[in-house]
Amino acid sequence: MTSLSLPQHSTMLDKSFVYGVATASFQIEGGSADRLPCIWDTFCDTKGKIADNSNGHVACDHYTHWREDIALIDSLGVDAYRLSISWPRVISQDGKLNPVGVKFYTDILDELQHRDIKAYVTLYHWDLPQHLEDNGGWLNRETAYAFEHYVDLITTAFGDKVHSYATLNEPFCSAYLGYEIGVHAPGIKGAKFGRQAAHHLLLAHGLGMKVLAKNSPNTLNGIVLNFTPCYSVSQSDADLKATAYADDYMNQWYMKPVMDGAYPDIINQLPIEVRPTILPGDMEIISQPLDFLGINFYTRLYYKASDTAPYEELAHQFPRTDIGWEIYPQALTDLLVTLNETYTLPAVYITENGAAMADKLENAKVNDQDRLDYYQQHLNAVHNAIEQGVRVHGYFAWSLMDNFEWAEGYLKRFGIVYVDYATQQRTIKKSGLAYRDLISNR
Ligand code: FCB
Repeated sequence: MTSLSLPQHSTMLDKSFVYGVATASFQIEGGSADRLPCIWDTFCDTKGKIADNSNGHVACDHYTHWREDIALIDSLGVDAYRLSISWPRVISQDGKLNPVGVKFYTDILDELQHRDIKAYVTLYHWDLPQHLEDNGGWLNRETAYAFEHYVDLITTAFGDKVHSYATLNEPFCSAYLGYEIGVHAPGIKGAKFGRQAAHHLLLAHGLGMKVLAKNSPNTLNGIVLNFTPCYSVSQSDADLKATAYADDYMNQWYMKPVMDGAYPDIINQLPIEVRPTILPGDMEIISQPLDFLGINFYTRLYYKASDTAPYEELAHQFPRTDIGWEIYPQALTDLLVTLNETYTLPAVYITENGAAMADKLENAKVNDQDRLDYYQQHLNAVHNAIEQGVRVHGYFAWSLMDNFEWAEGYLKRFGIVYVDYATQQRTIKKSGLAYRDLISNR
């Protein structure tokens, strides 16, 4: 198949189903001279942290090319664009708005509005101002209040230019990858650190939601969580128990506080010295009502029992994408259906889904059939979940264009648009053309 399609009766072919593309500030913008340093600048400067020793100083130079990039988004015919705001670009060290940074985004939001593209704004996609990290970052409770202040200022400045706000993108990655196993910025290692950072991130989310309810009651306000569904290698009690633990530790740790105001019960099995400090009232703040839940999905993982730890994680199975993640679309259907059974879900959006593939630009074309197949399988998976009663309202491809893929640098390409980093030339890949046609054929 060289096109993307859905069953004729699918509600994903209704015009009300939102199709979009997604990016994040640090991954595409560049323009680092016009903002404060963030934890990813520092991490990139630390030897051995980024696979190709690269950094975000130029990236896709969206800082210069934003207007043509929005024209490109428009040419794909999407309904929406999910972007993130760089906190260190819009708030200066004294806690005041930086007018240069604010104008960068209000210009973008105006251009999107002018082209009738809905702006889905993520307020925190991992680029914490370095000066806050110097005071403890997400290990310091004060960072949650600094976030609240930032959200208050920026949402007031944006007025009615935004369609939807997400407080955080993937607090699992910020907390677990950043403060527990240290493979993402700021590169801190320790279970207590990871759990404490997660709690302060969730607190920041709750405080942010309260500000949004006050400043921006008419936007669709929520959070974006990532899920990597956990599968057991066998049906033995020990393996099933280990797998359930892993799911609670990696996935439900973020979902359950937000939805139910409580951590998974395994919190009581953690050694006392690893448990996060939780103050009275925190869980009520964290569990604010949501207008939507954003779900990011890429892959699944297998688990089994271990003699020395609560679980053992297995290597990814095959087939895999270029970043080594198993392709298993059924997990997306299973995830959506299970979440819908477990929680009272608000409107659901797939806020990220996509694949890294080893693309080649040949004769001004990128024939990424493998990515196109990935999209087809995962769109089908979303359709199947909707058929089973899950209220999915939209789908965003990750990503609009190739960009800085965190610890992998520029080596992994996730775009439906190819970026030649030497010339900053953009080329819509076969998958991007198919996505465009799916949307326009509705
Ligand atoms: C997600 C991130 C996003 C991107 C994709 C591949 O975890 O939210 O920025 O890097 O993975």
